[in-house]
Formats: sequence, C-alpha cells, structure tokens
Amino acid sequence: MSVANRRARLQHLGFLIAVIAMPVTRRVQSLMASVIDNYDMWNDRYKWPQQGDEWSEPWGGPDPQWRHTVLPRISALLPAATILEIAPGHGRWTQFLHAYCRQLIVVDVSPTCIDVCRRRFSHLKHLEYITNDGKSLDAIEDTTIDFLFSFDSLVHADPDVINSYLSASARKLKPGGFGFIHHSNLGHYRHTLPNSLEFDEHWRSRNMTSDIFSMFCHSFGMCCLQQELVNWLSTGRLLDCFSTFANTPCSASEPASTIKNWDFMREAVNAKLDAIRPDEGHAASPGICSP
Ligand SMILES: C[S@@+](CC[C@H](N)C(=O)[O-])C[C@H]1O[C@@H](n2cnc3c(N)ncnc32)[C@H](O)[C@@H]1O
Repeated sequence: MSVANRRARLQHLGFLIAVIAMPVTRRVQSLMASVIDNYDMWNDRYKWPQQGDEWSEPWGGPDPQWRHTVLPRISALLPAATILEIAPGHGRWTQFLHAYCRQLIVVDVSPTCIDVCRRRFSHLKHLEYITNDGKSLDAIEDTTIDFLFSFDSLVHADPDVINSYLSASARKLKPGGFGFIHHSNLGHYRHTLPNSLEFDEHWRSRNMTSDIFSMFCHSFGMCCLQQELVNWLSTGRLLDCFSTFANTPCSASEPASTIKNWDFMREAVNAKLDAIRPDEGHAASPGICSP
C-alpha cells in the first residue's frame, strides 16, 4: 500500500471506527448507503473530531482544498445570487460559499449538522437552514436557485437519492441555473467489487455512475454539461465524479464532455505544499457578493 493510501485510510479512521461499532446487520446494510444509513452515520455515529476538516488533511486543510480543488471547478458559475448547498455537514464549504452570494440555503438530512451550521454561522444574516428527509427540496420555493452545490457528501448516496434531488433541482433552479454535484461513480466497477464487508472505497455508493447521473439530468429536462471522473484518495479506480449541469434542455445525443482525471490527487500535494510554504500565505477569498 502506498504512503498516500495509508494516509487516506488514516483520514477515515473515525469513520471506520463508527462503522465497526455497528452491529453486523447494520454493517451489511451500510454497503447500501441508504438515507437511513447516512442519517445514522452522520447524525449519530460519526464524532466529527475536527468539524470535517479532518477530510481535508491531504490538501493541508479546507482552505487550500477550496482554493486548489473546489473553487477552480465552480468559479465560472460564481458569484450567484442564491446558492443552495445540499449536505453541508458542519459547514466545511459553507464557510467559503457564503461570500459568493446574496442568499445561501443549506439543506441537510442531519438535524445535528444543521444545528452546528446555525451556531457556526450565526453572525451571517443571509443563510437559511433546512433539515430535510434526505431526498426532497420541498421547503424551497420553485425557480429561486441560481446555483446548486454539493461536495463530498452525495458520494454516499444511491441513485434513488440523486434521482430525487435532480428531479427537485429541475423545479428549484431558475431556468438556465447551474448545478455542481460530487457523486459516486463506483457503480461503474460494480461487477468487479467483492461482496465482502470491505470499506476501502470510502463508503461510496456501489450503484451510482456518471452515466446514470447524466441520464437523470436529461430525463428531468436538464443538460449535463461536464463530468470529471477522479481517483479520489488515490484508489485504483475513478470512483468519484464531479458533474456540472444546467437547467436547460439539451439533446441526449449531446453527451457531457467527460474528463478522466487520474492525476487528481496531485492537486492535494500541490495544495499542501502551497499551504506550508512560508511567506506565501493566501488571504481568505474576498467577499465577492455581499448580502
Ligand atoms: C461526509 S459529510 C460531508 C459534509 C460536507 N459536505 C463536507 O464536505 O464537510 C456528509 C454530509 O452529508 C449529509 N447527507 C448524507 N446524505 C444526505 C442526503 N441524502 N440528503 C441530505 N444530506 C445528506 C450528512 O448528514 C452529512 O452532513
């Protein structure tokens, strides 16, 4: 096992401990990554030792990960008047996103996570907090969202959840609005995955793929513009996908432009080097769009 892989496994130690603490029946179910399993994991079992910042360790922290990995992929879509963040956890990306909009709505299945966000961002008056059922966006008014964002959360969601969120997105996004969702592509390898209780693939949904995402977009009258497949945490598989889509119809015969990025984790190395280089600290992102 490479040093990078070993480090990646350590990052998820807290997560693994939470999984191991489950009774065996729950562990078998956890391979399915259902909404109930996600609720159970993130609301009750996971201890959030550093508010989620522990997952940014390969990048040197959330700030370098935002600057090197997240922001470059969405900067063309920002600022946006109203942003919806699905599954913010304890606000690892919320702390940056809020500076790029006049209103930021955060929706999470976990009431504990929403409470933490509410307290953490209590000084910000343009945030709205919603606890949902893990599938619906009914609490949000139709055609009000300019940009929908989710990162490092819906990788644990099965196709039924993604389908439900994309169906809702087609109603909640303004016509011509955009979305960026980080989801699993592990389903692409499902025929080669062992059936054993192995958790090495970071609890990604074993059923979700980039093709399924793109098909869902088209079925709800939206256009999947770009899909970047990445080997998250240096596994030997392109297990994750960043999909960018627009609430604009396009022909299913126009496939999304697809990038297979096997060098993804180099970004983490560069980000970490940047973060530790003396005298080259980067100021926090400026508030581009004040509420
Ligand atoms: C691994 S944490 C990541 C949180 C945050 N995105 C980050 O990167 O730090 C996963 C989060 O997704 C939320 N979540 C999982 N499934 C969800 C669903 N179907 N709908 C809404 N939130 C969900 C969990 O409650 C948790 O807050």
